[in-house]
Amino acid sequence: MKIVKDKGVEGKVIVCTGAAGVLCSSMTEDLLKHGAKVAVLDLRGDVAKQFCAKLAKKGLTQTLAIEANVLDKASLEAACKAILKKWKRIDVLINGAGGNHPKGTTPAEQMTKGTPLEDTFFGLTPEGFEFVNKLNLVGTILPCQVFCKEMLKKGGAVLNFCSMAAYQPLTKVAAYGAAKAGIMNFTRFLATHLAPMGIRVNALAPGFFITNQNRFLMLEKDGKTLTARGNKVIAKTPMRKFGQPSDLHGAARFLLSDEASFITGVTLPVDGGFVCYSGV
Ligand SMILES: NC(=O)c1ccc[n+]([C@@H]2O[C@H](COP(=O)([O-])OP(=O)(O)OC[C@H]3O[C@@H](n4cnc5c(N)ncnc54)[C@H](O)[C@@H]3O)[C@@H](O)[C@H]2O)c1
Repeated sequence: MKIVKDKGVEGKVIVCTGAAGVLCSSMTEDLLKHGAKVAVLDLRGDVAKQFCAKLAKKGLTQTLAIEANVLDKASLEAACKAILKKWKRIDVLINGAGGNHPKGTTPAEQMTKGTPLEDTFFGLTPEGFEFVNKLNLVGTILPCQVFCKEMLKKGGAVLNFCSMAAYQPLTKVAAYGAAKAGIMNFTRFLATHLAPMGIRVNALAPGFFITNQNRFLMLEKDGKTLTARGNKVIAKTPMRKFGQPSDLHGAARFLLSDEASFITGVTLPVDGGFVCYSGV
């Protein structure tokens, strides 16, 4: 009997934005271990370079560190040129850059009569809202415009990053939720638009992972004790734990591989059951 081995992401040229971040650095390392070539794009070019140097010490050398801003099309086009020069093609785009920020977050979960206005929705500055909304939504759309153009000849796959906030709003993070819901909608739009060109567009919706952008919401200043919000998250997660970056690996590789060749437009929750549980 002949054993058939799926090639997965082996040999694919992958562009990953926000690749020096917590979730995507872990994903990048996993993709490299499975034989992919990864262009490591990040606003923090120095951190991207250091990350690639660390990977090289582990024997993972098929990387290209590039400083790029997902909100600046010219910077993405320059990155695209450098990738094509090195590897001649682009097969996959992972839109990992994004996240929440305290300046787009309201301190109060709900407004009651005594709540100071500045702690509520009314205290949210347009700049704070716009920063978070733009980074996530526009920061997904612009890389698709630049890198999917390179997939038009041979097809390819895109993986966007949604969030639990895309299904149902989470308190405090109005800007982030609106942007992530927008990404879910945009994922379906682009999946439809590019399906005839052989480009699949899907998204992951990670549940709660402790990372730089949400640590201030989930953990007290000691870095260990759960905040009241952190406790609520665990209580609403049927598996009763936060995710680990490696929990995303299999889901990402599957959606990017040819095994998922008839799957497009989906947002896959990787959340320990958070989305399916009403809390009651
Ligand atoms: N951490 C979680 O629990 C969680 C849950 C759901 C979704 N997500 C999403 O997963 C993705 C990755 O999250 P993370 O926790 O690893 O975040 P992170 O903050 O660790 O990483 C984000 C990376 O993006 C880079 N970046 C920021 N602005 C950029 C820009 N303008 N251009 C290019 N790069 C830029 C940062 O330098 C950083 O390296 C984000 O879209 C986030 O919203 C995270």
